Amino acid sequence: MDGLSRPRKAIPSKFFYDAEGSRLFERICELDEYYPTRTELAILDEQSDALASLLPDRAVLVEFGSGASVKVRLLLDALDQPAGYVPIDISREHLLKAAAHLANDYPALTVAPVHADFVRPFRMPDDLPAGPRVGFFPGSTIGNFHPAEAVAVLQGFAEALDGRGQLLIGVDLKKDPRILDAAYNDAAGITAAFNLNLLARINRELDGSFELAGFLHHATYNAAAGRVEMHLVSQREQQVRIAGRCFHFRAGERIHTENSYKYTLDDFRLIAVAAGYTPVAAFTDPHQLFSVHLLEVGRP
Ligand code: AVJ
Repeated sequence: MDGLSRPRKAIPSKFFYDAEGSRLFERICELDEYYPTRTELAILDEQSDALASLLPDRAVLVEFGSGASVKVRLLLDALDQPAGYVPIDISREHLLKAAAHLANDYPALTVAPVHADFVRPFRMPDDLPAGPRVGFFPGSTIGNFHPAEAVAVLQGFAEALDGRGQLLIGVDLKKDPRILDAAYNDAAGITAAFNLNLLARINRELDGSFELAGFLHHATYNAAAGRVEMHLVSQREQQVRIAGRCFHFRAGERIHTENSYKYTLDDFRLIAVAAGYTPVAAFTDPHQLFSVHLLEVGRP
């Protein structure tokens, strides 16, 4: 409601992920046009020996925004005797289901899920195994934050890692805008459904009166800002009631629903250094679509 009261209407992208939104996001990850998921998985798979040698034995992995906990399996399989896994996610049912499933597949692993918004202060579970902490932040979720916010988010992670250890982070790369446009405007319309689910969610949870047909998905690469932007565009002048309040939309007026920043390897190293980390290694795929950075908490 705060975002929709502003002259430039906006809804924070974290609200995408209710149960329905989390399901839609998983379908996005399987789309032909959406290269990030499969490319990051290929990098992790390809670099499993390098990662095994760079990361400690008996590690406690801490994943920020763990979703379905699919990618972490590659890490768990690569590392020597991982001791613990702390998945942190905003989507509760989804988190608990994924954690139970993973615990079942890795019986020797202590799995301790935390239901939290990882950008806010949260309590780490008590009684974690003593091993060294390794943060894991895949998927280029960091791209949802303005660069200055990204620095603050990484600083927060350093705290959850007790001010030491390492962070393995997936970062989407700058590339031909046509590839980006296709990835965020898939032919099957799943990204459009994901975007519009925000309005459906407001209808479900806040007694909203959005007519979904009155808004269109719009996604485009903003080269000057280095980010893909997603918007919902009002197709006509209309009024919407939310929790008893009335919101007015002009024809063509937009709700800004997501930024997805893209970085060069060096752009991102600057962010990491500004947040107090030391870049250790960066891995990419042969087409330079996506990157995975290994950072060490603290200055050299
Ligand atoms: C989860 C933030 C990495 O920005 O690519 C996918 C979300 N939005 N399609 C991204 C998303 C539209 C995604 N992240």
